[in-house]
Amino acid sequence: MENIEKLKIPRHVAIIMDGNGRWAKQHGKERVEGHLAGAESVERLLEIVSKYGIRYLTLYAFSTENWKRSREEVDALMLLLTEFLRKNLSRLKDNKIRLLVTGRIDGLPEEPRNELEKAIAETSEDYEYTLILALNYGGRAEIADAAKKIAEEVKNEKLDPSVIDETLFSRYLYLPDVPDPDLMIRTSGEFRISNFLLWELSYAEFYITDTYWPDFDAAEFRKAIEAYSARDRRFGGRK
Ligand code: IPE
Ligand code: IPE
Ligand code: MG
Repeated sequence: MENIEKLKIPRHVAIIMDGNGRWAKQHGKERVEGHLAGAESVERLLEIVSKYGIRYLTLYAFSTENWKRSREEVDALMLLLTEFLRKNLSRLKDNKIRLLVTGRIDGLPEEPRNELEKAIAETSEDYEYTLILALNYGGRAEIADAAKKIAEEVKNEKLDPSVIDETLFSRYLYLPDVPDPDLMIRTSGEFRISNFLLWELSYAEFYITDTYWPDFDAAEFRKAIEAYSARDRRFGGRK
């Protein structure tokens, strides 16, 4: 961890944790075992991220499109999520990490939903870091849900359409108080966004690695931070 002080540290890192299935295939294992290895990779990452002083970490764990997968795989992922929360709640508290969820949490099965609600409540005070799990999350769903809430307020005459602008709109997104990601990492080499944080990633720096998610370790994370640190962010302006 030497020379960390020379690096530009993003405030918010968002990760598309992709490649569990390919990792499993490479090792002659079932897809579910790939997801288990992926969950271990998350546990490892939680320790790393706080060492860098990164305040917000968003992990894309289950998309609105992932319901298209086999019943067996979806059930295994939901069970894994439940177990992950039971196992890691004390780790979150010990490391001063609060948990938030982004996505349509009501659409999740009862067991993981209960564990999520418990973990969110128990980590809501005395925190330094924020872990956001994107679950049953879709970028388009989030924007559509915001539009729906705004439309309701207009209909009830609580909001005048003439005041709707980008700042107001973003107050209706799932987590209005979380700053936009500075760095978006995707593992497994795919150059696409797969419906992740469409609104929030407007000016994020992208880092894509061929490494499969279960193999994404401290050295890989360091490479991503170094790449980010060397970027020249212009936000549309000129220097
Ligand atoms: C990412 O790994 C985990 C989830 C989407 C839940 P994948 O399961 O998408 O792995 P690949 O893309 O098939 O390798
Ligand atoms: C994105 O990965 C979703 C998550 C990591 C949860 P996918 O594997 O679902 O994305 P595609 O299908 O390659 O676009
Ligand atoms: Mg994938």
